[in-house]
Amino acid sequence: MTTLWHNATLATMAEGAPEGVLERGVLVVDQDRIQWVGPIGDLPRELRLRVTQDFDLAGALVTPGLIDCHTHLVYGGERAHEFEMRLQGSSYEEIARAGGGIRATVAATRQADDDALYALASRRLRTMMAEGVTTIEIKSGYGLTCHHEARMLRTARRLAGSHAVGIRSTYLAAHAVAPEYEGRPEEYVDAVCAWLPQLHAQGLVDAVDAFCDTIAFSVEQTRRVLEAARALRLPVKLHAEQFGNQGAAALAAQFGALSCDHLEHLDAGGVRAMAAGGCVAVLLPGAYYLLRQTRPPPVPELRAAGVPIAIATDHNPGSSPVLSPLLMLNMACVLFGLTPWEALRGATANAARALGLQSTHGVLAAGRRADFVVWDAEHPRELAYYLGRNACQRSVHGGVEREH
Ligand code: NIG
Ligand code: FE
Repeated sequence: MTTLWHNATLATMAEGAPEGVLERGVLVVDQDRIQWVGPIGDLPRELRLRVTQDFDLAGALVTPGLIDCHTHLVYGGERAHEFEMRLQGSSYEEIARAGGGIRATVAATRQADDDALYALASRRLRTMMAEGVTTIEIKSGYGLTCHHEARMLRTARRLAGSHAVGIRSTYLAAHAVAPEYEGRPEEYVDAVCAWLPQLHAQGLVDAVDAFCDTIAFSVEQTRRVLEAARALRLPVKLHAEQFGNQGAAALAAQFGALSCDHLEHLDAGGVRAMAAGGCVAVLLPGAYYLLRQTRPPPVPELRAAGVPIAIATDHNPGSSPVLSPLLMLNMACVLFGLTPWEALRGATANAARALGLQSTHGVLAAGRRADFVVWDAEHPRELAYYLGRNACQRSVHGGVEREH
């Protein structure tokens, strides 16, 4: 079946294309692929003749489907009381040290059965999809045993099988030291490295991440996790320089990481290393905002060095209970100084790159996947402008329109 979507205001986000929209644009979709994109006047006649169904979009804005390239969507429980504690002056680090934080969610996740984990994550996922998310990354990291990490990763696979969305699953057992290994972080890292081949053999892992920070794992501990990933040829990424700087970005770059995420404390050397290593900077304004951080990531330096910038929700029950990618576009502009266009590129083309999907996802171009969103808007800047308005009218995943 060949479908034609015409009278669109297209923001293709294609690399090299000038910023700005293409009016009276056309998308031709064949099966799950985009077959042709361009102005109506250039549409080849033989292609027009093959169309079996066409849709007039009446000038509506069309962008690539949004890609949320950093989430912790699968978990049990919630931590609203920690939000209250932080409002009363406790810090994220203090709450974590007192047994809250990641450890509290680990307990709740282990307690939730498989169906409960799935149902909770499915609800969150549907909220994201309603705002135009067509691809999402989901990390493990609240199981912290081989069995419970596997349950989280399997939940991500199960979600992929039952929702019209692409899902990449990332192994993040190096998120916190498991309670069973209290005071024995080196042994815990040994275990994290030993579990990985087993989980990978079950087809559960698309990439490997670690929380490399002054309040989490050291550079040397993280290096061991990255080596275990490299031995399996799995792509890597890091939670880097969120609370302090211990050279996590430089380590990631040595391993050719897809991305370094957070980066509030990234320094000039880290920026250079990321540029040389081809890493994407994934900025997470939701966590920055909710933790009331005051030092934004070095956006001008990242720009000057040519490091691609992506934006994600970092959805998690502690630092970022955010289910709105559109809100992240706004916050990336207001808090971090991105332009609305950069923010949209950050949630499409550059987010695809942060997942290693740049040859298939994130832009509207011939041969790419037909993942796109029709918005009740005329220009991409409106997507970053409104707060609390879901302008997503229609969305298409792999050529198939989803229910809204
Ligand atoms: O990306 N920084 C570490 N991990 C998460 C927070 C996880 C949690 O608090 O549960 C993050 O912000
Ligand atoms: Fe995170």
